[in-house]
Amino acid sequence: MDILEQIPKEAFPKHIAIIMDGNGRWAKKRGLPRKYGHKEGAKTLNKIIEYADKIGIKHITVYAFSTENWKRPQSEVDALMDLLKKYVDNIEKFADMNAKLNILGDIAVLDEDLQKSIINIEEKSKNNTGIVINIAFNYGSRDEIIRATKKIAVLYKNDEIDLRDIDEKFFSDNLYTCGQPDPDFIIRPSGEQRLSNFLMWQASYSELIFTNKLWPDFTEKDLDNAILEYVNRDRRFGAI
Ligand code: FPP
Repeated sequence: MDILEQIPKEAFPKHIAIIMDGNGRWAKKRGLPRKYGHKEGAKTLNKIIEYADKIGIKHITVYAFSTENWKRPQSEVDALMDLLKKYVDNIEKFADMNAKLNILGDIAVLDEDLQKSIINIEEKSKNNTGIVINIAFNYGSRDEIIRATKKIAVLYKNDEIDLRDIDEKFFSDNLYTCGQPDPDFIIRPSGEQRLSNFLMWQASYSELIFTNKLWPDFTEKDLDNAILEYVNRDRRFGAI
């Protein structure tokens, strides 16, 4: 953390995103069922969110369940649903942190109980002014872009907007991340180097940072290192 204090305020990342990969391999290495890897990954998530808040990150987005993850064994899907339920039911935690929670993704197909818990915490935390925590769950970037396109098509069909109204800002405002800055960088642990349908619109100018650590082993120090790597990169946004 001390080392981060040397970073000028304007260069400090506002929004970080994480693909929490490697839980299955973490469990396998220990001869445990995969769900234990996710459980340990959820502990890491709590630790990293608390730390991100402490060092002044304003938005954090994590990939917890993709639109493709339904193909996993039912027991693993159930374990991930349970972890989300526990997470969103921990209402005091969001109040203590003054944190705002958003679920990015299609929640309509989730268990009714889980949907209620999600709506409840989103409602209760919506006016909190601290860190914004986005959990991407049943999320896919292509799905998000198609949904935005359909919403905009309906507005156009109903003569509520003109073609001229559709610009990048308007399109962004129809995504799940409406009103939030794009991620400054995306970290993917576990040695894989791809986006896997995560924030593909929002990641247009994000720096991509890959590490070999498995997500359950990821530490505060690893986040420090990612931030330092990010601030030392030369972001030109297409300029020279
Ligand atoms: C990818 O690793 C990880 C996931 C599909 C799930 C990530 C979820 C968590 C860390 C916990 C969720 C927390 C909440 C609040 C819902 P993998 O299983 O594909 O790992 P592998 O590549 O090693 O098999």
